Amino acid sequence: MTVLEILQVGHPLLRKVATHVTPEELKNTKTQRFIDNLIETMRHANGAGLAATQVGIPLRICVIEVNQNPRYPYKPNIPLTVLVNPILTPIGHETFQNYEGCLSVPNLRGIVPRYGRLKVAAVDRNGTPISEEVSGFKAGTYQHEVDHLNGQLFIDRVKDPKTFATWQEYERHHKDEFVKYAQTVIQRFET
Ligand code: NI
Repeated sequence: MTVLEILQVGHPLLRKVATHVTPEELKNTKTQRFIDNLIETMRHANGAGLAATQVGIPLRICVIEVNQNPRYPYKPNIPLTVLVNPILTPIGHETFQNYEGCLSVPNLRGIVPRYGRLKVAAVDRNGTPISEEVSGFKAGTYQHEVDHLNGQLFIDRVKDPKTFATWQEYERHHKDEFVKYAQTVIQRFET
């Protein structure tokens, strides 16, 4: 397996809308090897997720995994999930505030409103349909990754630019308050 280079904000390929993956393309050894490398790259960088567009491949594939993530210690765990051609549909209008960061946006976090509940339709790496409902921080992570497949970054969605913080200043000035708020999000959507 190979750790791929993660493109950084400003790279035009991050702004490309990724294309639908056909069943033949998904079965291809090259695509399967690419998915392995995407997982490896996400784990290597301690990401909660990684989209194909972030490594310059314009296909609608993203991987998500949260396992006691050091970047986001308040996030509940998510088992390894590969989403191919994901479609997200909000359930209701309820939103929460997510203090997001991104492997393609070095040393910056900002508050983004995200839907609290979603219906997810996709296929997994074997082409098996996925149909599930996700909520809370998990729903936030899904929305962040699918945004990447549409050429969007979390910085596009930050409503108040005053919430931008480096990771150090987040830790120093915003973490305690956000971790407290995160508990209310978990209670509201995930219990
Ligand atoms: Ni990202």
